[in-house]
Amino acid sequence: MQEIIEQLEQKRAGARLGGGQRRIDTQHGKGKLTARERLSVLLDPGSFEEYDMFVTHRCTDFGMEENIVPGDGVVTGWGTINGRLTYVFSQDFTVFGGSLSETHAQKICKIMELAVQNGAPVIGLNDSGGARIQEGVASLGGYADVFLRNVMASGAVPQISVIMGPCAGGAVYSPAMTDFIYMVKDTSYMFVTGPDVVKTVTNETVTQEELGGASTHTKISSVADAAFDNDVETLLEVRRLFDYLPLNAQEKAPKVDVNDVVDRPEMSLDTIIPDSPNVPYDMKEVIHKIADEGEFLELQKDHAGNIVTGFVRINGQSVGVVANQPLVLAGCLDINSAKKAARFVRFCDSFNIPILTLVDVPGFLPGTAQEYGGIIKHGAKLLFAYAEATVPKVTVITRKAYGGAYDVMASKHIRADVNYAWPTAEIAVMGAKGATEILYRSELGDAEKIAKRTKDYEDRFANPFVAAERGFIDDVIMPHNTRRRVARAFETLKNKQQSMPIKKHDNIPL
Ligand code: COA
Repeated sequence: MQEIIEQLEQKRAGARLGGGQRRIDTQHGKGKLTARERLSVLLDPGSFEEYDMFVTHRCTDFGMEENIVPGDGVVTGWGTINGRLTYVFSQDFTVFGGSLSETHAQKICKIMELAVQNGAPVIGLNDSGGARIQEGVASLGGYADVFLRNVMASGAVPQISVIMGPCAGGAVYSPAMTDFIYMVKDTSYMFVTGPDVVKTVTNETVTQEELGGASTHTKISSVADAAFDNDVETLLEVRRLFDYLPLNAQEKAPKVDVNDVVDRPEMSLDTIIPDSPNVPYDMKEVIHKIADEGEFLELQKDHAGNIVTGFVRINGQSVGVVANQPLVLAGCLDINSAKKAARFVRFCDSFNIPILTLVDVPGFLPGTAQEYGGIIKHGAKLLFAYAEATVPKVTVITRKAYGGAYDVMASKHIRADVNYAWPTAEIAVMGAKGATEILYRSELGDAEKIAKRTKDYEDRFANPFVAAERGFIDDVIMPHNTRRRVARAFETLKNKQQSMPIKKHDNIPL
């Protein structure tokens, strides 16, 4: 008996060594942790239970029958994050470069199926040379098996991808279909075709980092939601994100104990709006001041800065925030900001996370670049996402809410539940100057007359009361009371029920 037990321990120790000490040293030399070290940072200490440690590949080509490593390049199983269940897989670059074989894919599929069945998120740590070259089409089939499970899991359980090394070719499409992608700066990259193929086909010279590094994907492509300096920081940030999310779509968003007073007034909000409507202010300051303990987890912060998205807690409850940012492009909606916010709104709605919308929007960004790029279709995404969302929706208009953008930004008309405005709000078809120049074109030469007309328009429309008269907003609130009023509004909505017409699924403009 003792001997058998020792054999098990030896087998386990062998599997834990992955591709061997030399390759582990190489991994460390690149500033990267090993697959198991990463899981020990991500999960609560001692909580990880591994499955399929003894699985091996079945390939017999290219001498692979002589080259067998237990676990086959991916560590899978489950553990907890602050006591809450999550399924995980962590690709082991020290074993065949973390490449995906038929059996490697089967291990991932197994934990994805368990996650959906048991209602818990999946977190995938990606560090892989792609399809196992020796296996050819069998590994391509393996990828497709994973993709299908990504789609089946989408909207059922949260899926988080962490890119911690190479992720190229077909490998990118599993993370692409998950809810969030975090990357590690300098050591990770994602691209469909690498620099050599790019050079051959388009004659562009580009480095791996330029083509698909963390900076590219957080700033330009928006493929990634956030990037951090090293493995440990990235994994700790994943833990932080996880805490805001429910385990599955049947659960309410988590509510935790916080060290903050719900009706805390924030007097500085009474002076945050500048006297001139053309002077910007930082909407993130408003978010921090409303949030529990001033804490805000921002997503996609380096992309489409004219809209801000992320999570806060209000009275301990996870809340998704979408806010126009006057500091960037005056807070205009454009293609990128509409896409960014629409996807975020849909995530929140899928997982029962209430949405707070802070509005200061002068309209849509004009120009041929926007029209040719399809702002009509992309802007519609955000409008559609807000309108279909059945989670509690609270909106606060701080300053401008002009034109069609007013409708889009979680207005009453598209089923927002509680809509407030600060006294500084201007809810109108457009700004007074623009309006006057259209209405009184014949008087444009007469500066005095135009100034008077502009003043008249401002007096009539540059305020929240015309909308309030119609019930389009529920109340004009004191800025310093925003936290309290928003918290109370969400409290009334905690048992909200809203249904949709029977349909297979909608047809959001993609
Ligand atoms: N299939 C099988 N083995 C692979 C592999 C793959 N797709 N990718 C990497 N490996 C193996 C390497 O043979 C090497 O094995 P060894 O330790 O026994 O020598 C090990 O993984 C590490 O790879 P290496 O190339 O030394 O690492 P690197 O950090 O210098 O480069 C990559 C990493 C991913 C850029 C490089 O390995 C690569 O280009 N891989 C192929 C990518 C690809 O075309 N995939 C198939 C299409 S999706």
